[in-house]
Amino acid sequence: MKNKKIIFGILSTALIVFGIFFSLLPHDMHEFLTFGANMPHFLHFIMGFAIIVAGLLIIAISIRNETFNFGKSAFESMKMELILNKKKILAVASIMILALVISKIMFPTEAKAQTEFDRMKEAAKYCTNPTSTDPKCLESFNEIRMGTQSSDPQKTAQEKIGITGKYADDGFDPMQYLTAWNFNNLPKEERSKYYKETKRPDGSLLREYWIYAEDSEIEIAPGVFFPAWTYNGQVPAPTIRATEGDRIRIYFTNKGTKPHTMHFHGFHPSSMDGSMPEDFVYPGQDFTYEFDADPFGVHLFHCHSVPLKQHISKGLYGAYIVDPKNDTRPKADKEMVMIMNAFDTTLDGENEVYAVNTKAFYYAINPIKVKKDELIRIYLINIVEFDPINSFHLHAVFFDEYRTGTKLEPDAYTDVTSMAQAERSILDVKFKYPGMYMFHAHVAEFAELGWMGFFEATE
Ligand code: CU
Ligand code: CU
Repeated sequence: MKNKKIIFGILSTALIVFGIFFSLLPHDMHEFLTFGANMPHFLHFIMGFAIIVAGLLIIAISIRNETFNFGKSAFESMKMELILNKKKILAVASIMILALVISKIMFPTEAKAQTEFDRMKEAAKYCTNPTSTDPKCLESFNEIRMGTQSSDPQKTAQEKIGITGKYADDGFDPMQYLTAWNFNNLPKEERSKYYKETKRPDGSLLREYWIYAEDSEIEIAPGVFFPAWTYNGQVPAPTIRATEGDRIRIYFTNKGTKPHTMHFHGFHPSSMDGSMPEDFVYPGQDFTYEFDADPFGVHLFHCHSVPLKQHISKGLYGAYIVDPKNDTRPKADKEMVMIMNAFDTTLDGENEVYAVNTKAFYYAINPIKVKKDELIRIYLINIVEFDPINSFHLHAVFFDEYRTGTKLEPDAYTDVTSMAQAERSILDVKFKYPGMYMFHAHVAEFAELGWMGFFEATE
């Protein structure tokens, strides 16, 4: 059949042109054309290449069999071809559909997040140098920002910062951090290197701490590392906890590369304030802070070196809890420290990743286990820099809120509390029913970028 050659001619040209066109498309278009099947980009190239080869093969076969015949119009030939080869067309169509189904099964759409995660990792590679911002860093992050349009913004946001990836073990366990104070998470021997308590004649305690500042890389989202400045290698710093009237003594050493201090909220002599240039502890130097724990409440300590926003946003902060001597509040069954923080990964003065206790979405992936009806006391602190306000919202529950924790009567019975920078609160929560309870910043953007998690209440 001579007209077959015309069909072959058109078909082969179409295949070659489409193959080249397909190979050159961006990845998003590949996904669109393959109905969302999320195969790696190099497989798209192979697909495009295979289509081109198919076209070339048809030409080769045609040349071998016969010469081209232009006797009839292409349209007529095509019609004839269609009629004569219904079976063949059907066979080709079924193979293509089958291939698509197989690719959908092998590369399901859900795997997309992994790709976003990979891109995020790629972007982070250019963003880890604290001294200079590689333009590639900003470029990559903008690419991620613009890259995905989805009807589910939370999922997209999670994907953007790699929610589906796994956290590596960088030595900081947010689950342990919740209930770790005065280094009680360390084995006895190890703990004595950082904390010592001695009874004083009046019955109160002298609490001594060994704290050092150190530059350290921390993981803030799966595979996303941040060049932090830390106290004792972690962000937030180890929690310092005392009872009203105890004496606190901190042996502070600066092992970092910038001048740092420890500035405590609470009563203390001005010489212990760690905020003025003469208070700066330069790299390699040390200073001893000493003051009485006063007043009771949930406080904060942070570096007060300059620029302040940099020294805070880089990670130099921690919780300082002072328990009342005569506590008339209901006794808590579980206590936990939650510090709302955020990270400026692109060093542009805006936060890209938000969290409670540093690791984005950590408590969403690993819900905090509690029992229904037990009293959970949360020591909540907002240390987010750059954004003027943050909030905490707990679903399906109301809680007693003790603003700054400095009074024994709650100030509010609510399900959301808003805080400007450095504000704190104690929240007394009881879960009425078993189940999963979401908590997050009611500033939706923060929640979407990592500041959300779950309590899991059981019977
Ligand atoms: Cu692709
Ligand atoms: Cu500092």
